[in-house]
Amino acid sequence: MTEQKSLKEILEPIQSHLITVEDLVMKNLETDIPLLTEVGQYILKAGGKRVRPALLLFSCGALSEISQDAYLAANIVEYIHTATLLHDDVVDNADLRRSKQSARSIWGNEASVLVGDYLFTVSFKSLATLKKMDLVHALSRCTTMMARGEILQLVRDNEDASEEEYLEIIHHKTASLMGVAMEMGAIIGGGDAAQVKALYEVGHAIGMAFQLVDDALDYQLENAALGKEQGTDLKERKITLPLSHLLQSANEKEKSQILDILDADEITEMDIALVAKMMDEKGSVAYTLSRAQDYIDNAEVALKTLPQNEYSKGIFELANFVISRNR
Ligand code: IPE
Ligand code: IPE
Ligand code: MG
Ligand code: MG
Repeated sequence: MTEQKSLKEILEPIQSHLITVEDLVMKNLETDIPLLTEVGQYILKAGGKRVRPALLLFSCGALSEISQDAYLAANIVEYIHTATLLHDDVVDNADLRRSKQSARSIWGNEASVLVGDYLFTVSFKSLATLKKMDLVHALSRCTTMMARGEILQLVRDNEDASEEEYLEIIHHKTASLMGVAMEMGAIIGGGDAAQVKALYEVGHAIGMAFQLVDDALDYQLENAALGKEQGTDLKERKITLPLSHLLQSANEKEKSQILDILDADEITEMDIALVAKMMDEKGSVAYTLSRAQDYIDNAEVALKTLPQNEYSKGIFELANFVISRNR
């Protein structure tokens, strides 16, 4: 087995393109409202991994030259992603994001929601300038799905949280954006219908794996690299796959212990540690990671139908990074 490359090494073939995207990301934030520019710059300079822009650029590059339109589309998907993070931290009461205090804990929930809204709307304003109906359809379908995913998650019933329901939620809230990032890259790269579809599928599968790994990382309490608080899914009573696997593998006594924790007024660090330990014993995190690997295997099969070059190789490597990542 070859050694896993770092994210920086994987992004090397598109490094100069990513720098151009980064300039656009910062430039398009400049407004006449200091609070807006300040909050936007704060979260965007905090150092996200830029996985979605990278997927878009790799997808475009796999089919043709990476163009100005691809730069703007990459900027757009990062804005959409950032908007969802600003909103997500409000919904999840999160105080840490990208290893820094979350925007909502500095400027408050109102500012966080409104700046998120601004990033959404400015994204669609930019999208219109690309003058391609295919792109408008793809992105608007995706953002509707993302909003649906967050709402589905909100109304989910703790008692009979099934794996199927969980997969439906992450398909909406996370996989749709990674899928559409690659779909937009393929459209801009002039791909035919089969290539556009295949690249959407690859991005979607990577996105499913990405969220599965994210939900596993939330319980890997020994990992200090994450830059987000851990155990937050339990604290927010979010039944992600590691927890539903645990609930299904637990005996009656353990199950009622877990349900008591979920019903308590406050969930403590000790509760989180206890649940994480039970997950270790039942292999719940390992199970979640193995499901993530299944999606990456599917992505690799779909990738084989595409032109083989340094960009499609980049997609392949990024897919494998998603599985092994610790941040
Ligand atoms: C976090 O996404 C939200 C999820 C979909 C799990 P990332 O892990 O890509 O966040 P950044 O952009 O690198 O901070
Ligand atoms: C992913 O859900 C967030 C979005 C897709 C908006 P999480 O709530 O797990 O994301 P993190 O862990 O806060 O980044
Ligand atoms: Mg969250
Ligand atoms: Mg999470």
